[in-house]
Amino acid sequence: MNSTVAQLKNRFQQALVAAFGNDYAEADPMLLPASNPKFGDYQSNAALSLAKKLGQPPRAIAEHIIKHIDVNDICQPPVVAGAGFINFTLKPAYLEAQVNAILADSRLGVATAKNPQRVVVDFSSPNIAKEMHVGHLRSTIIGDCIARILEFRGHDVLRLNHVGDWGTQFGMLIAYLREAYPAALTTQNALDLGDLVALYRQAKQRFDEDEEFKETARQEVVRLQAGAEDARRAWQLLCEQSRREFQQIYDLLDVYLTERGESFYNPLLPAVVEDLDKLGLLVEDSGAKCVFLDGFTNKAGEPLPLIVQKSDGGYNYATTDLAALRYRIQQDGANRIIYVTDAGQTNHFAQVFQVARRACWIPDDVDVVHVTFGLVLGEGGKKLKTRSGETVRLRDLLDEAIASARADIETRLKEDLRQETEEFIDHVATVVGISAVKYADLSQNRNSNYVFSYDKMLALQGNTAPYMLYAYVRTQGISRHQKMASSSASLPVDRNERGDIGFGKLSGNGKVLLQEDTELVLAKHLLQLNEVLSELEVELLPNRLCQYLYELSGKFNKFYEECPVLEAEEPQRTSRLLLCDVTARTLKLGLSLLGIPVLERM
Ligand code: ARG
Repeated sequence: MNSTVAQLKNRFQQALVAAFGNDYAEADPMLLPASNPKFGDYQSNAALSLAKKLGQPPRAIAEHIIKHIDVNDICQPPVVAGAGFINFTLKPAYLEAQVNAILADSRLGVATAKNPQRVVVDFSSPNIAKEMHVGHLRSTIIGDCIARILEFRGHDVLRLNHVGDWGTQFGMLIAYLREAYPAALTTQNALDLGDLVALYRQAKQRFDEDEEFKETARQEVVRLQAGAEDARRAWQLLCEQSRREFQQIYDLLDVYLTERGESFYNPLLPAVVEDLDKLGLLVEDSGAKCVFLDGFTNKAGEPLPLIVQKSDGGYNYATTDLAALRYRIQQDGANRIIYVTDAGQTNHFAQVFQVARRACWIPDDVDVVHVTFGLVLGEGGKKLKTRSGETVRLRDLLDEAIASARADIETRLKEDLRQETEEFIDHVATVVGISAVKYADLSQNRNSNYVFSYDKMLALQGNTAPYMLYAYVRTQGISRHQKMASSSASLPVDRNERGDIGFGKLSGNGKVLLQEDTELVLAKHLLQLNEVLSELEVELLPNRLCQYLYELSGKFNKFYEECPVLEAEEPQRTSRLLLCDVTARTLKLGLSLLGIPVLERM
């Protein structure tokens, strides 16, 4: 199914040729969704931009174009407005046909990519022996959403967890544990991540204060890198410890990742430096090997170096990213590599990309993108901290979201005198709590900082997860009523039933008919999902999808307020039930792409 804009663009281009000749075959129709419904559904300002080239007034050009355009099957006759805009209003019959087509399509009209790519999404990526922090949470949520959308569009996505599992900190930690807690280096589960983080802090302090310890730690790194059995085993235990705790968070968030940490690229690091040297890009500066960067200068205006090998021979974060970049292109066959980290790493990635480009390691058809995001702030706009001033543990943050959601549900049940099982309450609290955290994050433009507020994210009104989940539940309520009405009227509704059984009964018979304004508005919105997702695939801004879904539920509510559904006469009744069904399916699909499951009841 060709999207409406694609079809209109096509017709527009044909009209340009008919009106002004072949020179205009490539001219941009400049067709966009109309900013205001009073201008119709789509608007073109091509006439204005062609005025100079054609040497005619824009309105005359516009008149000329509409004389030649053939969109009779799609739109009402196009209208010239203002300085020379052309407005298009879609015909109800066309909209009906389109809605009926998506109704029969399990992808709801969302096309798969014409050229599926191999895409690496590098996200989450916490550091071993440290707690995952809110920055990692944002990366996990945003990265997962981007991966889901690209997967749905048919790309081959490799979701990589580039965990920080290598480097000098391990020498320090192992050296310290040998003294303070030797059991931790040989026994599984001797510590939990909390202990590990505390020991890490102590180790760091020793490292900073004690020269002799520093040397021991250094030697420990060398032993580890040389593959010494005991150091290697200790390192593995530390990694496993962290990994288990990270996994709990991923399970709770329902996020899937393939771990391929920094250590993986360790054997590839010497070649990065050698190859940069061969290419003549490497400069030795006070013993460190580096590449001087274009466009990055210090305060004195001198070019800054990107160090790839320190004077002690060690490699660093940037070297690893260069090796990883090469590996992902050469071995993984990536056409696109997306890095999801906070905006604080903008320079790091710009520098790594620059060096890789100058080394010709990024072929022209490979796209590397740093997807940045802002900070999560506590109430009052300061850095998010616990009451006692500690950094917030992710696990605690998610647990609290679930607990708050649970409190809300219990209050509601009491108010409504509703009885539900513990199991039901647990399930709803978990889904609502986790979804609220995810949605609060995804619904902002990712580059803005946002204030983390349980009250706001759990509110039933506004652009929140509970609001969206409710919108879906409402459609399922209609579905259940429909089911009841269509089976023996005396049967009680099974309160635990799942799925859209009621709407399911409708398929095959009946069609969507669009008459009322609210029906037309809803239908037009339903048809935009494909455009929203294809734009998202390029811009990687999940808030666009949230906005789309939020507007969808608003338009659905309007429709449902103004148009009787179950009480309507046939053929309207079936048509409207079908509209409810396709709205429900669109909400469910859209939310699933955000990593949010739906509830049948809540
Ligand atoms: N471990 C890093 C951090 O916590 C993030 C890694 C991001 N990915 C990468 N390829 N550098 O800041």
